[in-house]
Amino acid sequence: MAIHPLLRSAIIGEPYDYDTSKHCEYIKSMTNTEFRSAMGCFLTGVTVVTTAKNEVMLGVTANSFSSVSLKPPMVLWSLSKESKKHSAMTSSKNYAINILSKGQESIALSFSQNKEPFMEIDYHLSNIGVPIIKNALAVFECQLHQVYDGGDHSIILGLVTSCNKSDLEPLKFFRGKFN
Ligand SMILES: Cc1cc2nc3c(=O)[nH]c(=O)nc-3n(C[C@H](O)[C@H](O)[C@H](O)COP(=O)(O)O)c2cc1C
Repeated sequence: MAIHPLLRSAIIGEPYDYDTSKHCEYIKSMTNTEFRSAMGCFLTGVTVVTTAKNEVMLGVTANSFSSVSLKPPMVLWSLSKESKKHSAMTSSKNYAINILSKGQESIALSFSQNKEPFMEIDYHLSNIGVPIIKNALAVFECQLHQVYDGGDHSIILGLVTSCNKSDLEPLKFFRGKFN
């Protein structure tokens, strides 16, 4: 079997300019479904990333959220390049990451499917005009710092400008199900 170029470059200690289009040659044994279902074994919380662009509010359910840096405080999430909200989300200067609490499954579903999710939820606008979901477990308000390429997703890195938390229980996502 061919050795993966990244592994080879690590062994010989030389940098390698990785061509992602060639990636499949080295992972033929793994299907998309196998990858997705293995990833589903990683228990996550559920967030809704909200913003307002040209006075239009929008949000997307995402569980790709992760903390990155403490000083300065930075967090990331990734968004599919296929998303209808990709252009707005990757260019909005400010956004909020709302971590959902137990019982907010319908909000997660609304923001992953619905065309008018803000009609169905309670929220307020922060002092910089970003929608904040009522009874979220925690909220991170962010300033867009950098957008990186991540295959079929964009990795969105934000500088946290404020945060708050509650003592509520989290909404969890595991093997494709909420609990
Ligand atoms: C629990 C859950 C987590 C999700 N996480 C992500 C994510 O991290 N990134 C992403 O691009 N889409 C994620 N999605 C899918 C989006 O919420 C949404 O369904 C997708 O972007 C298609 O809708 P759109 O074209 O209106 O954005 C998630 C959906 C669910 C239900």
